[in-house]
Amino acid sequence: MRTYYIAGNWKMHKTRAEAAALAKALVTRLKDGKHKYLVAPSFTALETVAAIVKGSNILLGAQNMAAEEQGAHTGEVSVLQLKDLGVHAVILGHSERRHIYKEDNGLINKKVQLALYHGLEVILCVGELLSEREAGKAEEVCETQTIQGLAGVAAADLSRVTIAYEPVWAIGTGKTASPEDADAIHASIRQVVARLYGAEAAQQILIQYGGSVKPDNAAQLMAKEHIDGALVGGAALKADTFVPIAQFQ
Ligand code: PGA
Repeated sequence: MRTYYIAGNWKMHKTRAEAAALAKALVTRLKDGKHKYLVAPSFTALETVAAIVKGSNILLGAQNMAAEEQGAHTGEVSVLQLKDLGVHAVILGHSERRHIYKEDNGLINKKVQLALYHGLEVILCVGELLSEREAGKAEEVCETQTIQGLAGVAAADLSRVTIAYEPVWAIGTGKTASPEDADAIHASIRQVVARLYGAEAAQQILIQYGGSVKPDNAAQLMAKEHIDGALVGGAALKADTFVPIAQFQ
């Protein structure tokens, strides 16, 4: 039986004081929560939130990191700096990184390998554009992003990788993939993992869904066989919307 993993991606929102208030509310309200939880604030709020979630059942995540350990990389943040702040996991390959900041599979794979090398967990995001879905290419796009994102990742490290399927057309748009459509892609991603790492690893890997997850659609999505949690954006910005998702029934 896989655990459910609910992660909140706060994107480029919240001052330190706002992030602290949300983190405190989540620590209190999720203290008896049964699932795996993570929040990913902006870099600027990581230290503040780290102090609040320390010792709780909420893990600390970062939204991105550099592909190099250190050096002349103006504006980038290193894996070593994230670890220094107590970061446990990093979201890589988010569609906003892929499409707005033009990160390609090669760069994302470099980051995945570096994060794993340094002991972090990774949430590797994959997902198709609307035009790709309309062209019947959703599975193929997710397959390629999964294969190339995981290139060179040893089987022993796969337990620290979660895949998040986030159809780009469903992110921040209020449009959710139907639970059936999402589950079909999740199943195909699991098959890709089976081909790469074997059936056992494929059974164990957690695959989150992301894209307009809300309190009123979380349970239907989570009821699907291959959906093991959620990567939540907009609804993660308030305890009143994140908590019901995190405690879906
Ligand atoms: P959304 O974002 O929940 O606001 O659609 C999800 C994400 O980008 O991770």
